[in-house]
Amino acid sequence: MAERGKWKSSLGFVLAAAGSAVGLGNIWRFPYVTGKNGGALFLLLYILSVIFLGLSVMYAELSLGRHTHRNPVGAFEAIKPGSLWKGVGYLGVITGIGILSYYAVIAGWTLYYMVISGLGKFKQGITQAQVNELFSSFTSSPSLTIFLLFIFLFITSWVVSQGISSGIERWTNVLMPLLFLILLFLSIYSLTLPGASRGISFYLKPDFSKLSFKIILSAIGQAFFSLSLGMGAMITYGSYLKKEENLFSAGIEVVIFDTLVAFLAGIVIFPAVFSFNLSPAEGPSLIFKTLPFIFSKLPLGVFIGTLFFILLAIAALTSTISLVEVATSYLVDERKMARKKAAFLVGAIAFIIGIPSALASSVSTFSNFAFGKDFLSLMDFIWANLSLPLGGLLLSIFVGYVWGAKNAAKEIRHYKDKKFPGEDIWVFLIKYFVPLALLIIIGSMIV
Ligand code: PFF
Repeated sequence: MAERGKWKSSLGFVLAAAGSAVGLGNIWRFPYVTGKNGGALFLLLYILSVIFLGLSVMYAELSLGRHTHRNPVGAFEAIKPGSLWKGVGYLGVITGIGILSYYAVIAGWTLYYMVISGLGKFKQGITQAQVNELFSSFTSSPSLTIFLLFIFLFITSWVVSQGISSGIERWTNVLMPLLFLILLFLSIYSLTLPGASRGISFYLKPDFSKLSFKIILSAIGQAFFSLSLGMGAMITYGSYLKKEENLFSAGIEVVIFDTLVAFLAGIVIFPAVFSFNLSPAEGPSLIFKTLPFIFSKLPLGVFIGTLFFILLAIAALTSTISLVEVATSYLVDERKMARKKAAFLVGAIAFIIGIPSALASSVSTFSNFAFGKDFLSLMDFIWANLSLPLGGLLLSIFVGYVWGAKNAAKEIRHYKDKKFPGEDIWVFLIKYFVPLALLIIIGSMIV
């Protein structure tokens, strides 16, 4: 077998994994899903899901990946050869392509916003109505949205075809921290807007009367989506990790950074939403209607806005890279396909499946597709809210009982004879809490 790539440095891995985690999930999806689900209560449930489910599953995936040095299908097969468990790996490969297909549509939107922001469209004096109008006229253009989907997938496949360390590691090293700094700056500005306090109480003061299974499932889905869990992306990234690296600290750093970025995005968006009299339940267009209006009011707004959308597009790219990488590593390892061919094949499949999502705002069949949802929202619900938690459930059972939580724990340890901090808690969570909690929530949704 050809030599498998390795991350060049520990920081390189942390940044690449953070690059996979931080993306549209934090800045586009988190604010709009939080807004739709009533705000603060959702935030609370999301943070609980991150701590008690996400972090546990993160370690389960990373340890399985590093232990086997295989793609998700191969990893299950390596531990339990000839069993049905590799089906969980296949589910991950399919889920990755499913998510990629609509994720790249939104990523295409960021490219468009980057360009029109650079052209000075969001200059001082623009009205909210004009910002809204820009959004709807853009998303109702079928050719433009499909073209942008194509461009984004092409770039992603090209980067993945270059291999893991030169391709992926290089991109993330400086840009993620820069994105974080801009968000910090924007959040401070947003807090000074008139009426910001209404946004803050919406975002931070929970109303417990809204509690329901549906909101809990959405919060879990968001946590898995945001942390890139439940479909083997972290198995794949862990598989390129050297044995000497400290898995424990890498995992926690990724989780903290990712959650901070999402939290900050909320601090940027909600004060602005209330200050501009928009609805927090606006849906997928939320940030595309709020942010440009913020930029139009800032000194140097054209520059800041353009830089922001460039960084957001790159954050999306480092996430689509990991989505493509899962299926690619499977094709390369298990089907002996050349990396280049595999990467472009995955991109092409996602493009075809992605077309209806790209048309979800312009073609009536897709804008009201089924169950009262448009095609893109339906895809998002199926893959993010159902498939990822289901993948997490099966993975926790596999790691907890088939491979054995104790064996996985040994892989996480940095010094083989010394338990990692919280090891016993992790073993308890992955064996009992994670499977039971996910089973109850998914089961109740199906019933
Ligand atoms: N975590 C990414 C985001 O928040 O934008 C999306 C994602 C990437 C989900 C990779 C799942 C995945 F495997």
